[in-house]
Amino acid sequence: MLLREIKNIFHQELNPLYGEQEVTSFFYLLIEHYLDLERFVLAVQPNMALSKTEEQPLFEGLSELKQHKPIQYIIGYTDFMDLQFKVGPEVLIPRPETEELVHWILKDCKAKPQERLQILDIGTGSGCIPISLAKYLESALVHGLDISLDALKIARSNAELNSVSVDFFQADMLQLKIQSNYDIIVSNPPYVRDLEKNKMYSNVLDYEPEMALFVSDKDPLVFYRAIANFAKENLSKSGLLYLEINQYLGQEMVQLLEEHKFKHITLRKDMFGNDRMIKGVVSG
Ligand SMILES: C[S@@+](CC[C@H](N)C(=O)[O-])C[C@H]1O[C@@H](n2cnc3c(N)ncnc32)[C@H](O)[C@@H]1O
Repeated sequence: MLLREIKNIFHQELNPLYGEQEVTSFFYLLIEHYLDLERFVLAVQPNMALSKTEEQPLFEGLSELKQHKPIQYIIGYTDFMDLQFKVGPEVLIPRPETEELVHWILKDCKAKPQERLQILDIGTGSGCIPISLAKYLESALVHGLDISLDALKIARSNAELNSVSVDFFQADMLQLKIQSNYDIIVSNPPYVRDLEKNKMYSNVLDYEPEMALFVSDKDPLVFYRAIANFAKENLSKSGLLYLEINQYLGQEMVQLLEEHKFKHITLRKDMFGNDRMIKGVVSG
């Protein structure tokens, strides 16, 4: 079949689900990934003929997309902070909002690029946060923990892929026993309440790890309380805590950090105008 014919089939079958622009971008990602073809090829050689073997993964991808499987899990990687990260069903797909959190940290650290900052990421998943920090803050000593050994395996291979050194280890953030002195603690813990599940798309609900996403309606800030308690004891003088948060719980998060005696608390909106991240300075 010709390349342009396959693209037409993608549009016919997927446009009603995703819209034309997104389908075009899926198609380019698939031909780049499986056939090593750059997107301009379609413009200059629309009549390029593909063999059955070459077509097969494209049609498999089409069928997975029809079942709402995220494109990142189909091709096995995603981009984050201009770096490439392997992803699989064991880890959350890194989100653009989380890039904004990392940019915030990098901006705050701009004045001290040579410092050997000790940084800990709690609930590291693919390792996107600590690996990006290690890449862009070359002198920092970066650590990442997760309860999931499968996630840690992916995080370690992502550190290797991006040629950085991050100390990854397994721990339960609800019962952290480490005693240390970090300059920065960052976390994007699970924060979606069960009551918000019905607002979520099936590409998230059916494919992304539950453990990475959900908290009970009864105690949605359970992870944040544990992190704030830990951070209070394990941040160095004037150490900083950065958190990605549930957009509906911004004020509750300000209150939680105040209760834990954090100072200079800043609540920030993401690119969509939602309360999405918060920063606090440890007191004393
Ligand atoms: C929202 S995901 C964030 C992943 C990654 N940091 C990111 O921003 O893409 C939350 C992570 O917390 C981990 N997690 C869930 N419960 C945990 C616990 N009790 N202790 C440590 N990690 C936990 C999950 O395995 C998941 O990787």
